[in-house]
Parts: sequence; C-alpha cells; structure tokens
Amino acid sequence: AHQWRGVIREYADRLPVTEATKVITLGEGGTPLVLAQKLSELTGSTVYLKVEGMNPTGSFKDRGMTMAMTAAVEAGAKAVVCASTGNTSASAAAYATAAGLKCAVLVPEGKISMGKLSQAIAHGATLLQVDGNFDNCLDIARKLGESYPVFLVNSVNPARIQGQKTGAFEIVDALGDAPDIHVLPVGNAGNISAYWKGYKEYSAPFESATAGTLPAVSTKTPAMWGFQAAGAAPFVAGHPITEPDTIATAIRIGNPASWDTAIAARDESGGFIDAVTDEEILDAHRWLSAKEGVFVEPGSAAGVAGLIKKHAAGEVPTGKTIVITVTGHGLKDPQWALRTEDGSEVQPVKVPNDVVTVASELGLEEN
Ligand code: F0G
Repeated sequence: AHQWRGVIREYADRLPVTEATKVITLGEGGTPLVLAQKLSELTGSTVYLKVEGMNPTGSFKDRGMTMAMTAAVEAGAKAVVCASTGNTSASAAAYATAAGLKCAVLVPEGKISMGKLSQAIAHGATLLQVDGNFDNCLDIARKLGESYPVFLVNSVNPARIQGQKTGAFEIVDALGDAPDIHVLPVGNAGNISAYWKGYKEYSAPFESATAGTLPAVSTKTPAMWGFQAAGAAPFVAGHPITEPDTIATAIRIGNPASWDTAIAARDESGGFIDAVTDEEILDAHRWLSAKEGVFVEPGSAAGVAGLIKKHAAGEVPTGKTIVITVTGHGLKDPQWALRTEDGSEVQPVKVPNDVVTVASELGLEEN
C-alpha cells in the first residue's frame, strides 16, 4: 500500500532539494480536503476545508518546517531558533528533535495556548517567554540568527515558504484544478504568500532543478481572500500596529514579516485582506465544530468567519469552488469549546451509575 512520504519527497521536483538531500520529515502534508456541507448550503458555492490540524504537530507549520530543518542540517547548523505565537515553536521543537538539533523558541509571555507550550516543552526545546509580543520575539530571533551561531526557522527563511506552498499543490491535485477563491487567516503573512506562490507555480510551466520543464497543472489561479483579527489587522490599517490584541493568539501579530509578498498575493490574485472581530471568530469556531464536525483553534476559524461575513454582505458568488485553509487543530487551545455564546462555562451533567436515570436524562423512553 502507498504510504504518504511527506511533502519534500512527494513534491521533490518542485522544491529546492536534490537526490543527495538528507530529508528531515515527520510525514507532514497529505491532509484531508473536506467538503463543508453547511457552508456550501449557506453560500450556494462548493466550499471545502483544507484541514491542516491533521499535520504531525497539529498545524500547517509542519509543511514549512520539514524544509527549514532540512536546510538547517544541510547548512551544518547545530541549533535552530524561532519566534512564535505557539504553532511554529511546537513544529520547530518536533522537527529539531527529528534532526538531532538543539532548538530555542521565543514566545510572548502569557499569550500562547497551553497545548502549544506543552508541545515545545515535550520535544525538549529551550523555551523563553519574552516580556513583549510576537513582533518583539521575532526581532530578537532575527538578530540571534544574524549575529549568533543559530539557524533561524521563522518564515522569513525562504525554505519555510517553499514547504508551505505544497498546500496549494495538494488542493489542485485533489480538485483537478485550482479553486475560484482561496480563503485563509493572515498573521505573519507567510502562509498567504506561500499559497499564492504554489498556485502560480502550478498554473504555468515550471523549470524544475532536477526534472526539466514540468507542464502546467492548473488552468487558473484563485482570488486570495485573507482575514485578520480586527484587533491585529495591520493590512487593513495599511501600516504595522504596535499593540495587537485578539483572543486568537495564533494571529496576534502587528508587524507581519512577509508584508510585500502578502500584498502581492492580494493584488495579483484580485483578492483582498479584511478583518473579523473576535466574536465573529468564536461564532465561526462554533460553526465548524457544531455544523461541519471539524474542530479547529480560534485563529484557524478567521477564514470561515470571513466567508460568513462576506456572505452576509452579499459578496460571495454562487456556483464557485471555494477552499478555506483551517490552519490548526482544536486540541491546541480547547478551552474555547467549553464556553457558551453568552460567555458562561459549560458544565457536564452529572448522573448516578444507573441506566434508568441516564435514559431519562437523555430523554429516551424504554422500547
Ligand atoms: N493560523 C494559525 C493556527 C497560526 O498559528 C498562524 C501563525 C496563522 C494562522 C497565520 O499564518 O503567520 O503565515 O500568516 N502562527 C505563527 C506561529 C505566527 O508562530 O505559530 P501566517
């Protein structure tokens, strides 16, 4: 039987690797493209979810990290460093373990979820909580990469973007062509840049480093629709913001590193980058869990929140194919599922060890 070999081996002829490359992989990629039945009914378009929580460490970061860690080993690095709102640090820690490298991660104090923190610790990374936000952490990580003997694995490293572009390849391979619209959350803006790169490369002949000229795979490219959290929406403001704030800690970023490539993705694709409120994010988070059967972390629901908002404004076309990347698993940050719409905590009902009471509590009558 065929076993998925990770994104580098599956797409080797479209990545900067050779036969000699020592590939560091945990089997990332090959994630499900799930038909979102209720979102499709709502919009009158066919809506799919690219469920990136199914990657080895539970987020899309693994696609980039296999490339970054492979590059680190190739460069002879002994240690890697990253700044993170949580998912990059979880991924870096796991892949550094697979590569036999030391890993240091810088996270904003108090602003990363317990699941992500646990992952970095479990994989043996040195984790430092910086008295500052993600943007401050990234400044320090970049300076460490420049002036100290550590290899930077944030998405400012082009290897990360190369790996993450494979998300677009998988979608086209599954659908037989590119979708009309691609929706995703935007934080540091690496992923929107990576998807756009992938879609562009698949829509034209590609000069492979190892396999000659590869023919175009898709006939078109999608419009890229990005959504930020309203309290952390520098692309909507048109400039970096100094105090980003949102409950969606994954995308709590005020000064995105991939600014120019994200603007290019937006404009070349005929798309836009807009914002959604925390309330809209939590509504979409509930929608995905309760109506589609897909559990994501809050930041991952920003794209779905955006689609629902645009639909309400009459701005989503019908009869199209729409793909939304849901970027990270719900178990990363599960506390939000235990909150009701009015903000109170859900308390499981306690029952005695007795079938009659349990049946009555469930509203069942005996046959
Ligand atoms: N969704 C999740 C779950 C994320 O963790 C991130 C980014 C994004 C979306 C946004 O992607 O930055 O490429 O625009 N998380 C980074 C981290 C910043 O450190 O884990 P982006």
